[in-house]
Amino acid sequence: MVSVDTEVVNDLKSKVNIADLISQYVALSRTGKNYIGLCPFHGEKTPSFNVNAEKGFYHCFGCGRSGDAIEFLKEYNQVGFIDAVKELANFAGVTLDISNDREEKNNPNAPLYEINNQAARLYNILLMSTELGERARDYLAERGITDDVIKRFNIGLAPEENDFIFKNLSNKFDEEVMANSGLFHFSNNRVFDAFTNRIMFPITNEYGQTIGFSGRKWQENDDSKAKYINTSATTIFDKSYELWNLDKAKPTISKRREVYLMEGFMDVIAAHKAGINNVVASMGTALTEKHVRRLKQIAKKFVLVYDGDSAGQNAIYKALNLVGESDVQIVKVPEGLDPDEYSKTYGLTGLSALMETGRIQPIEFLIDFLRPENLANLQVQLDFIEQIAPMIAKLQSITAQDAYIRKLVEILPDFEYNQVEQAVNLRRENMNITDHSVSDYGASNLVENFADERDYSNLDSAIPIDFEEIFYENNIQPQVADRRNEPAQVFQPTIQVPKLSRSERAEEMLLHRMIYHSSVLKKFSQDENFRFVHKRYQDIFEKLLLEAMVYEQIDESHLASELSEDQRSLFYQIISLDLPETASSQEINDLVSIFSNEMEQIKFEELQQQLATAEKAGNKERMLELTLQIINQKKKL
Ligand code: UTP
Ligand code: MN
Repeated sequence: MVSVDTEVVNDLKSKVNIADLISQYVALSRTGKNYIGLCPFHGEKTPSFNVNAEKGFYHCFGCGRSGDAIEFLKEYNQVGFIDAVKELANFAGVTLDISNDREEKNNPNAPLYEINNQAARLYNILLMSTELGERARDYLAERGITDDVIKRFNIGLAPEENDFIFKNLSNKFDEEVMANSGLFHFSNNRVFDAFTNRIMFPITNEYGQTIGFSGRKWQENDDSKAKYINTSATTIFDKSYELWNLDKAKPTISKRREVYLMEGFMDVIAAHKAGINNVVASMGTALTEKHVRRLKQIAKKFVLVYDGDSAGQNAIYKALNLVGESDVQIVKVPEGLDPDEYSKTYGLTGLSALMETGRIQPIEFLIDFLRPENLANLQVQLDFIEQIAPMIAKLQSITAQDAYIRKLVEILPDFEYNQVEQAVNLRRENMNITDHSVSDYGASNLVENFADERDYSNLDSAIPIDFEEIFYENNIQPQVADRRNEPAQVFQPTIQVPKLSRSERAEEMLLHRMIYHSSVLKKFSQDENFRFVHKRYQDIFEKLLLEAMVYEQIDESHLASELSEDQRSLFYQIISLDLPETASSQEINDLVSIFSNEMEQIKFEELQQQLATAEKAGNKERMLELTLQIINQKKKL
């Protein structure tokens, strides 16, 4: 077991400025005490991601993810605690003494990985040191696969005889392991190697363990049908989940937040030779949901570089539906070539240039892909507009919208610019009605935003002006009603926060004061009648009281470690509020009056309900008692 001392970790965290750490991955800009940026954990166009350097944590108001430096690295790089600590130490320039002896002995699949690993080694030895291997290497060299590449991808050769692996490994593994390994065929009580006479590409999982093989035929006189033969599904090999080269590509994908998807081994190898390593192959199969889910954990953007033939184009179309258009770009390989063939014609620099600069947006691909044959027909043109206009309307940039409208006009013989534009505008209006994202609320909606559930109009006048301002600064910034006209990447030094009712906001502000002003916490800890309206705030309040009993001052990171995940997110949201340093007792009283009013209202409604119940039951005595209470309660409102 690997472990690190809590003290060592705390020491490490205190050495690192979390804003410096995170700005390696996220563009941050400063606002007041905090830094903000676009959240790396969920797609967004206006920044909700808040980093507090002073207190050493981050919090996203959009998706609620929050934590300290270690949690950031865990989440961002999709690694475990130990790896995050190592990375943090690395960033801090500190050497840690951690021995890593990952236990694999207990894994029931361990012998399956082992037998496949050993087979890969045998195939590789055969390729590198036999006469047949020499001929196979000539074939590979012809295809641009040098000894370096053979080594990197552990390429091998299965010989012509059908018992090579069996002879070498059957005395080392149980029958059951052999049967489940995918390396053998069984027929008429005899065992044969599953692969003969093929160039062997080991398939590794993302941890580099060999889980199967794909064997390519290579000899001219080989008239077997399949170009590649793959290991059939086993407990350790699921083709709809595994992506070839993910083990080697993972660090670069994580760093760039971007992954290239290709079809085959030779394509990935060509990209590697061209210096691009954040590339995986789905091995000819269509992309699946499982592939996408795994990749989305480490990448934000997918770049599809499928073959230029029609099968490749169809695969792109399917993949677009799976990935979601906003996160995809497409590289169309021209002349029906695949990436490997392209590099043979245009050189490795040609391939890298194509992959890096030859990307198009999904809409551009779709206009081309969906473009009907018989465009002379008016109805066909209309249907085509119907398909494409919504996609154009969804685009962020007006310039881009304009460009694609022009493109459509170019294609359609019977339509003018303003007609297509009108179709797009129509779509845009429809979207405005249905699309209620937080950013769509203008400043004029401010009051309604607070009062989204109940009517607080009678309260408004009781709130002093500067108080309103504090609310305002911490919450809803005036937003341009329609941001579509602006380039997507423009940084606004404003932050998106969740919509809260006026009471919830007051409760959060009061909790914030309690955390940082022990006198405030003390005052309320002594008031037995005090309660927060919402249970989630009351729960945090109770944790604060516990914490205050043990420690003189609230230690944010200690308290955070005591909270459940949801509570922690809420806690970070509360301490992220940017309030003035000093808290007046007037402010505290005002805050309490905002939500105590709501509390009294709730009590009032509860009493009325009880009265109704008593009435139904015919309990006269109880009815009288409740009526008196209701009259009293009414006075408090
Ligand atoms: P391709 O037919 O495009 O092969 O299939 P390729 O990558 O260009 O290979 P070369 O250049 O002819 O050697 C793409 C991928 O689909 C899988 C393989 O993973 C291949 O790399 N495939 C292809 C199979 O699994 N079986 C096949 O019969 C063919
Ligand atoms: Mn090829």
